[in-house]
Amino acid sequence: MASFDSADTVMQRIASLGRISDDQNWLTRTYGSSAMTRANEQVALWMKEAGMATRHDAIGNLIGHYPAAGADAKILLLGSHLDTVRNAGKFDGPLGVLVAIAAVQHFNNRNVRFPFAIEVIGFADEEGTRFQSAYLGSKSIAGRFKNGDLERTDAAGITLSDAISTFGGDPGKLDSARMDPARLLGYFEVHIEQGPVLEKNDLSVGVVTAIAGQTRARLTFQGVAGHAGTVPMALRHDALCATAEFILGAEAEARSVDGLVATVGQITTLPGASNVIPAEVALSLDVRHAEDSKRAGACSNLRSLAKQIAERRGVTVNWELIQESLSVTCDSGFVAKLQKIVARHQAKSISLASGAGHDAVPLSKITRVGMLFVRCKGGISHHPDESATVEDVRVAIAVLTDFIEQVTN
Ligand code: GLV
Ligand code: MN
Ligand code: MN
Repeated sequence: MASFDSADTVMQRIASLGRISDDQNWLTRTYGSSAMTRANEQVALWMKEAGMATRHDAIGNLIGHYPAAGADAKILLLGSHLDTVRNAGKFDGPLGVLVAIAAVQHFNNRNVRFPFAIEVIGFADEEGTRFQSAYLGSKSIAGRFKNGDLERTDAAGITLSDAISTFGGDPGKLDSARMDPARLLGYFEVHIEQGPVLEKNDLSVGVVTAIAGQTRARLTFQGVAGHAGTVPMALRHDALCATAEFILGAEAEARSVDGLVATVGQITTLPGASNVIPAEVALSLDVRHAEDSKRAGACSNLRSLAKQIAERRGVTVNWELIQESLSVTCDSGFVAKLQKIVARHQAKSISLASGAGHDAVPLSKITRVGMLFVRCKGGISHHPDESATVEDVRVAIAVLTDFIEQVTN
């Protein structure tokens, strides 16, 4: 079992990464920003200390390589993401990278090498905060990056293509980031649970069996601007009122299907003045369910609802699909192995499905994946109060080191 100190070190590192931010007032670290560059530099130093050689791929994922005992070895991938949402918690992403580094450090301190190499990846973008398209880092490694995404722009109008170059990557060579599936043993990710289940069960860690699929869309309601004081209510084509009706409809749809969640997290209103009837509203929509058919059914209902609302209110609506990922089942061999290991480190082992997306989703296209969740205080995540305890982190490191020892070709 790894020592207490390694968990302590992970907690200290989580705190120091939490201070590397694009914003002075809170933690925000988005793809390609100067804070991401500084975070990568810091994590690369920790990787080197743990006996890894480091490199960046063409999109800016940071990769630490821990050599195998012999040549021509396969690779076990570990990791998580180093980018964050806006006003984020400190654990979502970095925990998985730092626990993986702690596990490698544990073996390096003892001069232990395996028949396989280990690569720890700090993914450059999982959240999609800056370009509204999640998994840019892991999609590149999985060979699933869509070149059309290079034209995406951030809030300042900077293209993803330019952001990749500024970050030190090469938008013309993203294919080179793809890893060869034949060389991979699997991908394993430790992540904070971001929900209340482990806390309710008084358990440190839990085994993830599946990750919910998700659809992200951008809707634009187009109405007609007008004078807030002179246009009678019956003659208005108010894009924001249409949006409001749609948002409540999305909430009702999600409440009507067990396990379905739907969120509108972003709205832009034009022209955006208190005395002008809103002419155009763009909104984000995020829909998730563990069963793909239920998610697809809900999206089709919501599309029809948006059209009905638009027709009735004399506005138009455009539905742009931003991204869609199918639900993912974790590898049954990994799950069985983990269940046994976890049961040795705490009272019992339970299985969980993840409502949040993870880098394991794109990686599942090229290799088997497994995940371990760590108890999350109050189930609070995507929020500065997100936290996990040093004791639970210690259990996660112990489970991961056991797992690495038991992984076989
Ligand atoms: C990632 O955190 C997501 O599930 O949105
Ligand atoms: Mn997140
Ligand atoms: Mn995450």
